[in-house]
Amino acid sequence: MPNARTIRTQVGIVGAGPAGLLLARLLHLEGIESVVIETQSRTHIEERVRAGVLEQGTVDLLNDAGVGERMRRQGLVHEGIELRFKGRGHRIDFRELTGRAITVYAQHEVIKDLVHARLADGGPLLFEVEDVAIEGFEGDAPRVRFRHGGEACEIACDYIAGCDGFHGICRPSVPAGALRFYDKIFPFAWLGILAAARPASGELIYVNHDSGFALLSMRSPEISRLYLQCRPGESLAEWPDDRIWAELQRRFATGAGFRLHEGPVLQKGVTAMRAFVTEPMQYGRLFLAGDAAHIVPPTGAKGLNLAAADVRVLARALSARYGTGSEDRLRDYSEVCLRRVWRVQHFSWWMTSILHRFEDGCEFDRRRQLAELDQVTSSRAAATMLAENYTGLENRHQQGGL
Ligand code: FAD
Ligand code: PHB
Repeated sequence: MPNARTIRTQVGIVGAGPAGLLLARLLHLEGIESVVIETQSRTHIEERVRAGVLEQGTVDLLNDAGVGERMRRQGLVHEGIELRFKGRGHRIDFRELTGRAITVYAQHEVIKDLVHARLADGGPLLFEVEDVAIEGFEGDAPRVRFRHGGEACEIACDYIAGCDGFHGICRPSVPAGALRFYDKIFPFAWLGILAAARPASGELIYVNHDSGFALLSMRSPEISRLYLQCRPGESLAEWPDDRIWAELQRRFATGAGFRLHEGPVLQKGVTAMRAFVTEPMQYGRLFLAGDAAHIVPPTGAKGLNLAAADVRVLARALSARYGTGSEDRLRDYSEVCLRRVWRVQHFSWWMTSILHRFEDGCEFDRRRQLAELDQVTSSRAAATMLAENYTGLENRHQQGGL
C-alpha cells in the first residue's frame, strides 16, 4: 500500500476478544511476537456483557498463562448445577461425578485481565482501527491492512490469526468455495438481564417450563444474570422490567415456594440461538479461532471455552513452527480443533433440545423431553455424561492420534 506505515511482526492477530488476546499472551510466553488490532475501544470490550462460565481447562489455561490472579480471588467456584422441571429442582453434582468444577467469572473480567497483561508485556494492541482487510495469506506474504487514527497502516507477518468473531472480516476473506459452512438456526432466542439483585441460588439453575426455558446465573454475590426463552427478534420495548420479573418468577416457581430476588435491571438484550461451524478452520497462512470459526447456542456455556481451546492448539502449533521449523502441527490445527468443536456442538444442541419449548413440538415430544430430563437426573450414567461435558472435555481430546 503506498504511504502505509508498515509494522513487521510474526503473527498478525485480528480481534481483541478472548481468542485474540489469549493467543497474544500465549505467544508472548513462547517468545513469539504479535500485533493485535481491534475495531472497538478498550472501554467497549472491557464492559461488554457476555459469557460467564469457565470450564476447568480454561481456568487452568488462564492460570498457566499468568493471568489468573483476579479470577482466583473473585471467581465463584461451582461444583454443580440444578436442572428444574415440573416445579422441582434436581442437582447434578459435578465434583462427585467427575472430580471437576466450573468457575463463574465474567468474560469482560477475563478481557480486562488479558488487556492488562498485554499492555504490561509491551505488546502492540491497537484499538479503534478501521477498514480492516487481509490479503496474501494464500502465499507466503500475509498482510493486514487497516487505518488507525486516520493513518493507513499494514502489518506484514508470517501468519494471520482470524480472531474477529462471528461478524468479522477474516472468514469472508477466504476465496468462495474453499471453506464449507454448517449452520443451524434455532426457532427461539434468549432475553437476558443483568440485575443488581442477590442470586437466589448459590449455583446455576436451568429451567424447563411449559412456557419455555429460563436460566439463573450470576456475576457476583450481589449481581444476578438471568435469561428467558423468547421469540427470535423479540422487541425489548415489549418487555418492561415488571413483565420480565413476572415471567421469570413464573418459570422458576417450585412447589416449595422458590422466589427470585428482584432488583434494578442494569442491562438487557436479546441473544439469537445459532450453531455454526467452518471447515476447515484454516486457509493458507490464515487460521480462524473462536467465534470467527464456529458458534454454539449458549445453553452449554461453551463459546468462550471453545475459543480458549482453539488458541491453545494454535499457540502450540506456532511454537513448534518457530522452535523446530516444522509446520506439521499447523497443518493439523483445524482437524485437532474440529474434533472438540463437533463434540461441543453436540452437547450444546442436546442441552438446548432438552430445556427449550419447541413451538412445533406435539404433546408426545413434550412428554419425551420430560422423560429425558427424568433420566438425566436419576441415572448416574446419564448425569455423568452431562457433568463431563459441562465441566469440559479433557485437553487430551486435542492431542493424541488425530
Ligand atoms: P469475540 O468475543 O466476538 O471477539 C472478537 C473481537 O473481534 C471483538 O472484540 C470484535 O470487536 C473484534 N472485531 C470484529 N471485527 C473486527 C475487525 N474487522 N478487525 C478487528 N477486530 C474486529 N460462552 C461461554 O463459554 N460461556 C457462557 O456462559 C457464554 N454465555 C454467553 C452469553 C451471551 C449473551 C453471548 C452473546 C455469548 C455467550 N458466550 C458464552 C459466547 C462467548 O461470549 C463467545 O463465544 C466469545 O466471546 C468468543 O470469543 P472470540 O474472541 O472468538 O470472539
Ligand atoms: C451466563 O452466566 O451468562 C451464562 C451461564 C450459563 C449459560 C449461558 C450463559 O449456559
